[in-house]
Amino acid sequence: MPVEYFFPTPIYFSMVKNLDLIQQEMSNYVSNLDRGANLANPWGDTVQTTFKYGNYEHVLSSTPALLEEIKNHCNEFLVRLKHFNLNARIKQSWCNFGDQNSFQHYHIHGDSDISGVYYYQTSGDDGDIVFRNPSLVNRFHKLTYNIDNSVNYKPEVGKIILFPSFLEHAVYSNNTSHQRISVSFNISLDYNERKL
Ligand SMILES: [Fe+2]
Repeated sequence: MPVEYFFPTPIYFSMVKNLDLIQQEMSNYVSNLDRGANLANPWGDTVQTTFKYGNYEHVLSSTPALLEEIKNHCNEFLVRLKHFNLNARIKQSWCNFGDQNSFQHYHIHGDSDISGVYYYQTSGDDGDIVFRNPSLVNRFHKLTYNIDNSVNYKPEVGKIILFPSFLEHAVYSNNTSHQRISVSFNISLDYNERKL
């Protein structure tokens, strides 16, 4: 008798269509960025980022082709998930610099609905992103803990990944001397509802 596996968690990935223009935009953004004034590691790990709690400048305001591409992939993701009347709004976008030995602890993006990453600069070996099964019972129960309860994606220039913001993820240590640069973003979803 076969064993069947149910209750999937959606993770979307694609290569961007407008790669050359997006890479040019990112090149301009990164070369104009004052790293000394704008980079920190507010999460207690070792990735340097432009992210700040509260108000700060969107990376995507400097990269309109990447913004457009993210919106298109987000819409595609929503259609695949059978959502046709949700408004998606990009709330935050920030740039990450992963140097040698940098990593990110497991975390979630608790204040949004869809999160994602775009890889601008990577060798492919400078730090996979790894997602963990959101079902605690599957991870720890004696019957199921041997099932693959995590999945990792190799970074690739031009790759975009979208995932539920509740999904725990981490970034493996960069064991190379190559600097990985990515853009992350958070998206909120709203139904068309009458508000009080
Ligand atoms: Fe994250």
